Amino acid sequence: MTKLFTPITYKNMTIKNRIVMSPMCMYSCEDEDGKLTPFHLTHYISRAVGQIGLIMLEASAVEPAGRITAKDLGIWDDAHVSGLRELVHELHRYGSKAGIQLAHAGRKAEDEEISYAPSPLRFNERYQEPSELDRQGINRIIKAFGEAARRAKEAEFDMVEIHAAHGYLINEFLSPIANQRTDEYGGSKENRFRFLQEVVEAVSKEFTGPIFVRISTDEYHQEGNTLEDFLYYATQLKELGIDLIDCSSGGVVPAKINTYPGYQIKRCETIKHTVGIPTGAVGLITTGIQAEEILQNNRADLIFIGRSLLNNPYWAKEAADELNYELEAPKQYARGWK
Ligand SMILES: Cc1cc2nc3c(=O)[nH]c(=O)nc-3n(C[C@H](O)[C@H](O)[C@H](O)COP(=O)(O)O)c2cc1C
Repeated sequence: MTKLFTPITYKNMTIKNRIVMSPMCMYSCEDEDGKLTPFHLTHYISRAVGQIGLIMLEASAVEPAGRITAKDLGIWDDAHVSGLRELVHELHRYGSKAGIQLAHAGRKAEDEEISYAPSPLRFNERYQEPSELDRQGINRIIKAFGEAARRAKEAEFDMVEIHAAHGYLINEFLSPIANQRTDEYGGSKENRFRFLQEVVEAVSKEFTGPIFVRISTDEYHQEGNTLEDFLYYATQLKELGIDLIDCSSGGVVPAKINTYPGYQIKRCETIKHTVGIPTGAVGLITTGIQAEEILQNNRADLIFIGRSLLNNPYWAKEAADELNYELEAPKQYARGWK
């Protein structure tokens, strides 16, 4: 039995296999209105035809100032819902589950006149100095995450993922490097976690399906969050009812990262076993055999595939062939898919 092709259930969502299309910004909203374009439909639906279990839409901004670029996907307006729902229905047609990553770029918003962050510290000299969020601003953004979750429900997504990684707004609150506040949102790890906690509470109020959180499990900087901090955050997220922690890394500071096959898995495995919460593995997982090893050794519960799925929408078929698993073809391809 291959584990990669064994279904798995989170709350009311059963995914037909363990393969997740990792969220990947396509910067393709040409009208800068956050709305899906024909490109997005082709891009995501083709991975559903390719039998990916869970298709996670790219980082989608909860407010316009939370976009990385002006061409990012958005979920800040009710006008976004109908297009997203149409896409969700198409993904379901091929048996995939559909998710969306809810995001705020924080100090890494590139095209906005003002960017927001916990502290007025720029990422590097290429970025503007962000405006320090006051209590009102914090409340506005937490509410925006809640409203985005309501829209995700209205668009019939099966799950949502909160983007708390890669040095964007939530990660900036978590990190002692980017967060130098002296109020209840900064200082101790308990205080730095408060913003994420309030985001999770706002999202959970609106969205009753599975909720994943993506975190950066290594900041590649001595003054960044420690493993102990990450274990604390993961424990808190478990208590808040989060279904899975998607374990990525980096992005808080400009660091040179030594990448190699499975470079982010060690901490993913540690979080899974120390905290007892399901985890998702991501980062240079490129073959079916590698994915199967991670799952069979119980190092993670889901396998997120990024660039390999840009290279090959039929990555699941290639992985199945490697593992001698007979992957069911979409019915239109049944005569040709051996
Ligand atoms: C083009 C591109 C866009 C990305 N956009 C996002 C994003 O929107 N949200 C996110 O959490 N990660 C994003 N990532 C990171 C991927 O989801 C993934 O974690 C990373 O590429 C490592 O996995 P891989 O080695 O399988 O590509 C992006 C990566 C790429 C290549």
